[in-house]
Amino acid sequence: MPQIKKRDNWGSRLGIIMAVAGSAIGLGNFLRFPAKAASNGGGAFMIPYFISLLLLGIPLMWIEWTLGRFGGGFGHGTAPGIFHSLLQKNRFIKYFGIIGIFGPLVIFIYYIYIESWTLAYSLFSILGRYQGLPDQASMQSFLRGFQGLEHNQYFNGIGIAYLFFLATFILNIWVIYHGIKRGIERLCRWAMPLLFIFGIVLMIRVLSLGTPDPVRPDWNVLGGLGFLWNPDLSALKSPKVWLEAAGQIFFTLSVGIGVILTYASYLSKGDDVVLSGLTASSTNEFAEVILGGSVVIIAAFVFFGPLETKAITQSGVFNLGFVTMPLILNKLPLASVLGFIWFFLLFLAGITSSVSLAQPAVAFLEDEFGINRKRAALIFAAVSFILCQPAIFFLKNGVVDELDFWGGTFFLVLFAAIETILFAWVFGMDKAWDEIHRGADMRVPRIYKFIIKYITPLFLLFILGMWFLFVPEGKNEPEFVSFILMRGVASADRAFVLATRIGLISILFVLALLVKIVWRRKRKAGEGIR
Ligand code: ALA
Repeated sequence: MPQIKKRDNWGSRLGIIMAVAGSAIGLGNFLRFPAKAASNGGGAFMIPYFISLLLLGIPLMWIEWTLGRFGGGFGHGTAPGIFHSLLQKNRFIKYFGIIGIFGPLVIFIYYIYIESWTLAYSLFSILGRYQGLPDQASMQSFLRGFQGLEHNQYFNGIGIAYLFFLATFILNIWVIYHGIKRGIERLCRWAMPLLFIFGIVLMIRVLSLGTPDPVRPDWNVLGGLGFLWNPDLSALKSPKVWLEAAGQIFFTLSVGIGVILTYASYLSKGDDVVLSGLTASSTNEFAEVILGGSVVIIAAFVFFGPLETKAITQSGVFNLGFVTMPLILNKLPLASVLGFIWFFLLFLAGITSSVSLAQPAVAFLEDEFGINRKRAALIFAAVSFILCQPAIFFLKNGVVDELDFWGGTFFLVLFAAIETILFAWVFGMDKAWDEIHRGADMRVPRIYKFIIKYITPLFLLFILGMWFLFVPEGKNEPEFVSFILMRGVASADRAFVLATRIGLISILFVLALLVKIVWRRKRKAGEGIR
C-alpha cells in the first residue's frame, strides 16, 4: 500500500466554512446578480433562481464537498486523482478531471485583473481621483483610460492598472504560498466579517436614501425595490431567463468549477459536509439576495429613475460597478469613504474567490508531483503570470469574454454534469448517500437521493442541450453556434479570439499530458492503486 503524504488541513470548521463562503461570495454577488435579476423579469427571476438553487446548487455543493473529502482521504486534492479514486479500474476517468484544474485556472487569469481594478478604485476614491466627474460619459472615459483602452486626460496608458495588477497578483500568491491554514483560512477569517460589515453599511446607506430629486418623488427606495423585485411573470415563458438563472447559481456558488473539491479535500474523513456545505451556501445566498439585491440597482433607481436604470443594467456589469455606483456615491456626504467601502468590499469578495481559483493547480502540483507547497505556489505564479497577459493587453479584443465563456460558463456546466453522473451513477447512489452522511451533523432530506440521481443530471444535460439546440428570439441559430462562429466579434478581433481558443486547447493538452506522465510514474513506482 503506498504511503499517503501528509497534506495541509483546515484549522477549524469555521475556517473551511468561511473559505468556501469566501470562494462563493464574489463579484458575482454584488454586480452580476442584481444586473441579471433586473433584466430577466425582476422578482419572477427568483422563481427559476430558487428552483436552480434547490435542484442544482445545493446538490452540487454536497456532491463536491463529499467527493473532495473522499479524494483527500487518498491524498488527492484535484479532480483527476479524485475521479481515479472513485473508479480505479477505468484508465480514462482521470482525464475528465483535467477540467477541474483547467476551469479555475482560466477564470483566475482574467478574474484577478478585474479584482485589481477594485483595489485601484478603492484607492482612487480615498485620494479623490474621480470625485469631480459629473456624469456617466466622463466616468466611463476615466474607466477606459485606466484600462488602457484610450489615452485621455485621466490616464496616460495602462501603467497604473498594471501596477495594481502586479500588487493584486503578488498578494494572491503570497496567500497561496502560506498554504491552507496559514494562508487562505487566515485571509478569510478577517476578510469575510469585514466584507459583511461593509455590505451592511452600504445596504443601510442605500435603504435610507430619501428622494434626492423633489421633481420626481417616485424615484425612491420603495420604487427601486419594486423595480428590482416586482415579478414580470411573462418572463418565465422565456428559456433564456431559466438559463440565466441556472448560470447565476453556478457562478455564485462556485460549483462546477473544481475549487470546492480541492477545499474539501483538506477535511478529515469524519468531518461533517452536510451542514457545513449548507451553511456556506446560505451565507452566500444572504450576501447575494439580501446585500447584493439591496445596493446597486436600488441606488441607481433613486438617482437615475427606471428608464436609465434599465439601460444601465443592460450595458453590462462593469458599467454598473465602475461607472454608475461611484457616480451615485459621489452625490452623497462622505463620498470618498463610501466609495472606498464599495470598492474594498468588491476587492475582499474578489480576493477570497481568486485564491480559491488558484488552489486546484497548486494542489495538483503538490499532491501528484510531490512538489512542496512553496515551490508549487511559485511555479503556479510563473505560469499564471504569463497566462494573465493576454487578458490585460487584449481586453478590448474580446479575450476576456472568450475566457469567461469557456472557463466561467460552458466548462462549468459540463464539469458539473460529469461529476454528478460519476458520483450518482458510476460510484453508485447508495454508496454516495452513505459517503455524504459520514460524520454528518444532520441528515439530508431523502428526496435528495432522488434529486441527485435523476433530477440534477437531467437538468444539467437539459442546460447543455438548450445551448446546442435552443434558438433565441430574433436569432436564427442556437447561441452556442453563434458563439463558435464568432458572430458578434468584429473582424479585426477574430484573430485574437482564435488565438485565445488555440491557447485554451493547448492548456487542456498540457494538463492531459501531465496527468499521463504522473500516472505512468505512479504505475512504475507501484503506486497504481489510488
Ligand atoms: N463565486 C464567485 C463570484 O460570485 C466566483 O464571483
